Amino acid sequence: MAEHGLSTPEICSLGYFLLIAGQETTTQLISTTFFRLLEGSAPVCWKDAASEAGSKTVVRNVLATESSVPTWRRVAAHDTNLGDTLIPAGAEILLVLSGNHITSPDALSSPSMPSEAMRRGQSTDHGLVFGSGIHRCLGAKLAELEAAIVVQETATVLAEVHLQEYQPDWIRLLSFQAPRTVTVANNPSTRPRTSRPPSASKAASNYAHHS
Ligand code: HEM
Repeated sequence: MAEHGLSTPEICSLGYFLLIAGQETTTQLISTTFFRLLEGSAPVCWKDAASEAGSKTVVRNVLATESSVPTWRRVAAHDTNLGDTLIPAGAEILLVLSGNHITSPDALSSPSMPSEAMRRGQSTDHGLVFGSGIHRCLGAKLAELEAAIVVQETATVLAEVHLQEYQPDWIRLLSFQAPRTVTVANNPSTRPRTSRPPSASKAASNYAHHS
């Protein structure tokens, strides 16, 4: 990159940006997926996440409902009408890309956000989760693949693992969200009597009902 004229500060900031853009985002997606799976509120169970289809479905569901990058900022390039609202050129916009705990806590359970198709784990190409246009996420496919493989492999080798902490601390920033820790045990004797909170059973039966 230096040969291509980038200065050292530019190379460092690019490296730093890719670390945040490429590493933190995907790690957070994986953490939320593990947590929702082991908490029992995901549309597939831990056993099914050990399959390619199951891991893909749950990763896409989390991207749709609770992505690690739930909002992103934009500046309006020119005057734009959104319904009856005029957004003047230069206005700063916060785009809500996915359900989140800050701007739309209700969206986390609302069927409309994003499309029902994505909640069922169909392709993320159509949603805004990875942005849109010339700045669309360069790592979108890599992130989805990485997360699905990690989930599938982990659910395969740790088939008996179970959640120990049902209320972990969360990273809840405007543009980043994920549980800070996902504490598990791999010893059947410490498995809580019931692994599913009531809400999860309803979510799973809804999913079973729709699929
Ligand atoms: C769960 C994982 C990820 C999520 C949710 C995510 C989300 C996003 C979003 C919302 C944008 C902004 C798009 C826009 O401004 O329209 C973006 C940009 C970007 N992402 Fe990702 N990303 C993820 C993983 C990755 C990975 C793994 C890489 C690279 C290895 C990556 C590299 C980039 C780059 C370079 C941009 C800037 C594109 C530009 O401004 O032209 N991202 N990402």
